[in-house]
Amino acid sequence: MSRLALVTGGARGIGAAICRRLAQDGMRVAVTDIRGEHAADVCASLPGQAHGSWYMDVVDERSVDDTFSAIENQHGPVSVLVCNAGILILHDGARLPIAQTSLDEWERTQAVNARGTFLCARAFLRARTAAPVAHGRIVTFSSCAAQIGGYRSSAAYIASKSAILGLTKAMAREAAPLGITVNGIAPGLIDTDMMRLSMAPGQEQQVAANVPLGRLGHPGDVAAAVSFLVSEGACYVTGTMNDVNGGYRMQ
Ligand SMILES: NC(=O)c1ccc[n+]([C@@H]2O[C@H](COP(=O)([O-])OP(=O)(O)OC[C@H]3O[C@@H](n4cnc5c(N)ncnc54)[C@H](O)[C@@H]3O)[C@@H](O)[C@H]2O)c1
Repeated sequence: MSRLALVTGGARGIGAAICRRLAQDGMRVAVTDIRGEHAADVCASLPGQAHGSWYMDVVDERSVDDTFSAIENQHGPVSVLVCNAGILILHDGARLPIAQTSLDEWERTQAVNARGTFLCARAFLRARTAAPVAHGRIVTFSSCAAQIGGYRSSAAYIASKSAILGLTKAMAREAAPLGITVNGIAPGLIDTDMMRLSMAPGQEQQVAANVPLGRLGHPGDVAAAVSFLVSEGACYVTGTMNDVNGGYRMQ
């Protein structure tokens, strides 16, 4: 039986590209999202068989734990967890300065981006402690914005994605005895609905001019990095944050 991958935020953008790529790699994919119908559409479009789609809200402890159990009851143990779901709250395409940011916006952003990653990883680690698998993998999603302070992202988003930088390393240490690797992706400017919200129509060329590789990233560019990190061959890679940004930020 092929390995089972659970992808959060799989209904569109980078998450949908990850689902497609992992299915092409021969995995079974559990597509999860709060956009349940769109998750089902993505699932129906995947190559191969034995995929499934579920409504799952990563903010909600019960939703995460119950959905995780339901997926495992139906399909067996999850080997690969991709914590891709995320939000960036903008106002008419612009971030608010900290002085004008509501507590609600701050809390909502932390809840989806940081708490959501914690809840999903916790469910996965509990399950794999009880029933270990070979080649267990977690992939988290930070952002170039966390590394450089961001130009278009809100402080709430930058802080939430900075939490993922530390959480990824903490999880890598804890998961290592289980044979599970934990690595993060820090995307740069990837052409999705989330990124388009922060860009005026026709601004692509101007934005791409700041990227050494001369273009915005495609969701598939990120999915290719995830494909490597979850592969069996990446077994000695853990605790890393992987820049997928066309050279936009070089260390
Ligand atoms: N696009 C970029 O340029 C960029 C750059 C850096 C980091 N990222 C990160 O990459 C990831 C994917 O981004 P994207 O551009 O594809 O975003 P997107 O907005 O296009 O898609 C995000 C998906 O997450 C889902 N989602 C939101 N809240 C959820 C919740 N509570 N529970 C479950 N699912 C939820 C949405 O329904 C959507 O399907 C995010 O974590 C994002 O922060 C993106």
